[in-house]
Amino acid sequence: MEKNQYKYKDAMALRQTAENGFLEEAVHKPENLSSLSLEMIYEAFHELRVNQIELEMQKDELRRARAEKDESLRRMAGSVAHHFNNQLTVVMGSLELYLNDLPQNAKNSEKLRRSMKAAQKAAAMSRQMLNYLGQTSGSNEPFNLSEACFRSLARLQPEMPKEIVLNCNFPDSGPLIHADKDQMHQILTSLVTNAWESVSGNQGTLSLTINTGSPGDVPTAKSIPADWQPKDISYVCLEVSDTGCGVATMDMEKIFDPFFTTKFTGRGMGLPVALEFVKNHEGCITVDSIPGDGSVFSVYLPVIGL
Ligand SMILES: Nc1ncnc2c1ncn2[C@@H]1O[C@H](COP(=O)(O)OP(=O)(O)OP(=O)(O)O)[C@@H](O)[C@H]1O
Ligand SMILES: [Mg+2]
Repeated sequence: MEKNQYKYKDAMALRQTAENGFLEEAVHKPENLSSLSLEMIYEAFHELRVNQIELEMQKDELRRARAEKDESLRRMAGSVAHHFNNQLTVVMGSLELYLNDLPQNAKNSEKLRRSMKAAQKAAAMSRQMLNYLGQTSGSNEPFNLSEACFRSLARLQPEMPKEIVLNCNFPDSGPLIHADKDQMHQILTSLVTNAWESVSGNQGTLSLTINTGSPGDVPTAKSIPADWQPKDISYVCLEVSDTGCGVATMDMEKIFDPFFTTKFTGRGMGLPVALEFVKNHEGCITVDSIPGDGSVFSVYLPVIGL
């Protein structure tokens, strides 16, 4: 077999084979190693490059297999949630008919009402799973954020402990965004509920703030999703802060995972669903929290008008 030829040109080690002429490799030949043969330099770097290519191919294959598995798990979780929802609708319908037929104060009515409550909770969880899986439809209409915050707070306040001080730092109206009103209400409900639940003994403050800014004002280094990038348009920041217990450092990575909760089993869908809805609106979330001091959850969304 014909021996390869090696030569050095423009800081590259080159190999000439009989068939393809000179092949270039991006090899910088250090000046103080001039005694090393070009052959050794070339072959060492060539082997390194072949290994790197093989490694990249293996990584691609792993990524593809993982994406396929994720997709099939999503499909399975979606059909389980749909199935549960349909069956629970039948159970709730029958319970309702039964309850309507019972005379007031009938012996078993309390048990039936408890069954109804449990079925309603399970149905709400199924809907949250479908929301998380992106299997519910949403609209995209001009939406006045401050006005919507006032409306959502009016719905939430009756449940909020009276002792918690609520600060609203936003204008009477604006800014305008494109949004689905139910999804926005759900985002706000999750963040506000978490804020008041974090305040122990109901002694604390909950603040809602709305600011607008340029794409450069969004702290992308800590954005969730991590690969989120702003477009060249204005952004609104809806901030929900509290003086509650804060998120434990070791929990920070997990709080957007479905069913992660430090409360009761069966909870832990508030933040994952809120994040899914924020992503539907082409936005991102950031979290700043100091254990023992409180948390700030900020939602950034594109603005269409002030
Ligand atoms: N403002 C906050 N302060 C402290 N911890 C928080 C705050 N918001 C979220 N967390 C932590 O993140 C976890 C997940 O929150 P998430 O809203 O997803 O579920 P949850 O509140 O436990 O249940 P639910 O499904 O009823 O919302 C909480 O259990 C809590 O540990
Ligand atoms: Mg919650």
